[in-house]
Order: sequence, then C-alpha cells, then structure tokens
Amino acid sequence: MNDLRKVIEQLVRQTLLEMNHSETDLKPMVHAGTSLNTAHHYGKRQPLVAANWKMNQLSGTARSFMSDFQLRDRKNIQTLICAPHILLPVLAAGKNQPDLMLGAQNFYPEQSGAFTGEHNLDMLSDAGVQSVIIGHSERRNLFGEGDELLAKKLAMAVENKFLPIFCIGETLKERQDGATFRVLRNQLLTGLSSLKNPLPNPEMIVVAYEPIWAIGSGLTATADQAQEAVSFVRERLADRFSYSYANSIRILYGGSVNEKNASTLAAKPDIDGFLVGNASLDANKFSSIIEQTAACKRKVFVS
Ligand code: 13P
Repeated sequence: MNDLRKVIEQLVRQTLLEMNHSETDLKPMVHAGTSLNTAHHYGKRQPLVAANWKMNQLSGTARSFMSDFQLRDRKNIQTLICAPHILLPVLAAGKNQPDLMLGAQNFYPEQSGAFTGEHNLDMLSDAGVQSVIIGHSERRNLFGEGDELLAKKLAMAVENKFLPIFCIGETLKERQDGATFRVLRNQLLTGLSSLKNPLPNPEMIVVAYEPIWAIGSGLTATADQAQEAVSFVRERLADRFSYSYANSIRILYGGSVNEKNASTLAAKPDIDGFLVGNASLDANKFSSIIEQTAACKRKVFVS
C-alpha cells in the first residue's frame, strides 16, 4: 500500500514538474535560510565530508597523509577520500579506521572488455573502494562527459551499492544570466533519469552542489547562496521522489571550502557536508574542516 502511494505521489510530482517550464517556476519555493528541513529530519542525515584529491599526491605523500589523518578522532560524521586510482591500494593498505571510506574519481560503466585506460566498478571494489564521484564539472567540461553517460554511471553505481557523489553546478555566466536554477534542475533530473526501482536507501545517494565559478578559484559561494541552491536541489528531489526521501538525501557543497569558511557554510540547514579539493590535500586542514562540520551539525541538531 505504501509502495503504491509512493509511486502515485512520484507520478503526480513528475507530471507537475514537467508542466513547469518557466524560470519563475524554477525559483526555490522557500527563502534562502529556510528549508524543507525540521530538526527531526535534519538529525536523520549523517554529515559527510569528502576529499577530492583530483590529480594530486604520490604514494609517499598519500601514505603520510593517511598516518597524520588517522591520528585525529572523528565522531558523528562520515569521511571519504577520493584519490587517483593508482593511489587507492596505497590508501587501502594504510587505512586502519573502518569507518573511513575510500572513493574513486571516475569509472567506466561497463562490466569488462576493450575499454583501454578505464576501470570498472569490480576493480574499484577489489581495491577497497566504496564510493565514486560522478558528474564533476572537470569530467563534464575537460573530458566531455555528457548527461547520458552520467545517468548511466549513476544508475550503475547505485545498482552496485557504491555511494555516488553526483555533482552539479552552474558556470559564472549561467549565474549572471539568471540560469542557475534551470541548470541545476536539468543536471539533476537528467542524472537521476536512469535510476531504476526499487530505489536505494536515500542515504545511498549523495548530491554535491559545486558552482563552477567557486572551484579552485578561492571564491566561495556565500553561505546564503549555497543554502539557496542546495534547498532548491532538495525541493527538486522532493518533486522527483517524495519529501521524506528528499529529506534523507545528503547534499554537499563544494568550491573553495577551507578551514576558515567551513563552519559558516555548515551552519546552513540543507548543507550536509562538503566536497573539498585543495584544502583536502593537507591532513590538518582537512581534519579541521571535518571537526568544524561535525561540531556545527551537532549544535544545530541539539538546538
Ligand atoms: P576546491 O575545493 O579546490 O575549490 O575544489 C572543489 C572541488 O572541485 C571538489 O570536487
């Protein structure tokens, strides 16, 4: 009965969504600073801070990062390190904290075969990996990964029980042209379009909002800008699935996050953690971001 209700709810929402095409309709229904959240829902989402090392580190620096990083205690927060493929076995060998997850920055969505230079999910699993980044703007823009491929990757990662970090974000020009919400909605909905029923637990899907103009630029979105975009994304997830499902999906912010701005951003109710580039290469800075996020989320939940 519950399942039937969910299917009907989803169909109605999807139909309404498809009828709404004007930019006005794409504005968030709630103000920046407010959200679908209640403290109750909020408490259901475990904060997550993920490192995206991109094309950085060597085996020696990766090993010393692991030993420094694991000296710090992390409570009430999930942590993930997404490293270059070749460093994943190095990290797996040095990992002694079972709750610390390893992630890859890419994979190819086929079982096996003639795909020179690629890695499949079995290989990643074999190397101790539980999570994958999908749709990062650098893969979209530098390597031409399009919506269809990304949707296939997301569906395959979910089916194989990997934790996907699905990235979306607008360019500076798109923001200046007032197209941010349209871009986010399109990237999100096309990405989700190949997911099959039964849907996974919502804790097993993570979305990362990464405005392209904030990546590696030192320009962080303000906490209000990030909250506005992230709460818009949560509303679209509610349209696509249901309010309760959307309220259990974690949405991260990424783009020049560092140990100085993390707590202001983490204080926003819809931001469930971060995807961190540059600042994640340093075990102390990354640990500080994690600790501040955990402390901030604990405070919001308790108050
Ligand atoms: P920076 O934190 O270096 O801006 O990178 C963000 C990012 O792209 C994470 O995926």
